[in-house]
Amino acid sequence: MKKIYLGLLGYGNVGKATAKLLKQRRSLLKKRAGCDLVLKKICDKNDNPYEILRDPNIDIVIELIGGIHPAKEYISEAIDKGKFVVTANKALLAEEGKYLFNKAKEKGKSIYFEASVGAGIPIIKSLKEGLSADRFNGIFGILNGTSNFILSQMSYLGIEFKSALRQTQKSGFAERDVNLDVEGIDSAHKLLLLVYLCFGKFFNLKDVFVEGITEILALDIVYARELGFTIKLLAVAKREGADLELRVHPALLPSPHPLANVDGINNAIYVSSDLAGDLLFYGPGAGRNAAASAVISDLISAALNIQAGLFRKGVCVVEDTAVKRLRHIKETESRYYIRFLAEDKHGVLANISGILAKYKISIASVTQKQRKRADVVPIVMILHKAKEKDLRIALEKIAGLPVIHEKPLAIRIEEP
Ligand code: HSE
Repeated sequence: MKKIYLGLLGYGNVGKATAKLLKQRRSLLKKRAGCDLVLKKICDKNDNPYEILRDPNIDIVIELIGGIHPAKEYISEAIDKGKFVVTANKALLAEEGKYLFNKAKEKGKSIYFEASVGAGIPIIKSLKEGLSADRFNGIFGILNGTSNFILSQMSYLGIEFKSALRQTQKSGFAERDVNLDVEGIDSAHKLLLLVYLCFGKFFNLKDVFVEGITEILALDIVYARELGFTIKLLAVAKREGADLELRVHPALLPSPHPLANVDGINNAIYVSSDLAGDLLFYGPGAGRNAAASAVISDLISAALNIQAGLFRKGVCVVEDTAVKRLRHIKETESRYYIRFLAEDKHGVLANISGILAKYKISIASVTQKQRKRADVVPIVMILHKAKEKDLRIALEKIAGLPVIHEKPLAIRIEEP
């Protein structure tokens, strides 16, 4: 039986699980891949990566180091040396994917990246192969397990962001820099990869409007729930005519919506396509075995391609020419949940609604609870559809009122 030799760069949680499973499942994988997948070398932090990159017998390099450098240089070298690449590195592909995919295409090699989004959820293969007859209207994703876990803990236990964050960091799913998780950057990286597959265009991080979950209070989760909504960190790519909106931000989802019920470390990707219809992909978004499942499925795809000699020239994506421009966040319209912490004085509500009226923003409902804090009361409003541009100016004016304490919070209401 033909042997295909693998080299593994990075021996953390996912690397160890991949190595273990390649060994444990060798006979099953032989049948599935039609060849023997042999892990020839492993390179941990202190080993020399060039023993893998420059080994002429290694066919596939598995990159599980993470981060931009030196992963970019290693993958470039691997491609230059004629190797196939399997990676879980969402940050690298989101930021340098255009360069790396083009390089792979020039060399007639492929980069496989199923583990980079949603761990074991086969979303990459589904978009690339399963839905290759479709055009896409939108993607709505809960793409970061850590943030979702934090929001779930805040909701179940009634705790604030900081204590939920401390619990989450113990789970081992967070990025080395947890700000990437909670500030929405990791979700934006993953969104850029999904957008590349759906719309055939490589956008940059700066093209995505990104807002994290750090300003959400436990009381926002409670009020949202009372109003029939659940707060999630949502990654959105929405096509409307020739415009595409790219954004990551907390959103109020109607509580019965399937995405509103994705809890804990789970991820979900809601894909709206023209032929297959609206689809939901759901499952654990992080975890060593889940990610290793995706890595090994990529190894099998690569091995089958190598044996068939049908090398994919880069990633098989086609540009959706119907998409002509990116719609800036200020041009978007939405319903909103807004929350103020205000002094409990006469005239406060009148002041706030006066400013909103001035900018033609109409209020659907108002909730003012009893004093929860010593000096301020939370005022929560649901707004009818408003222009983001107008809302931003109005909120700035309201924040300037002496009776308003702390920065007002506005969360978009999304109904995928
Ligand atoms: N930090 C990531 C998350 C890991 O929490 O989703 C999986 O990409």
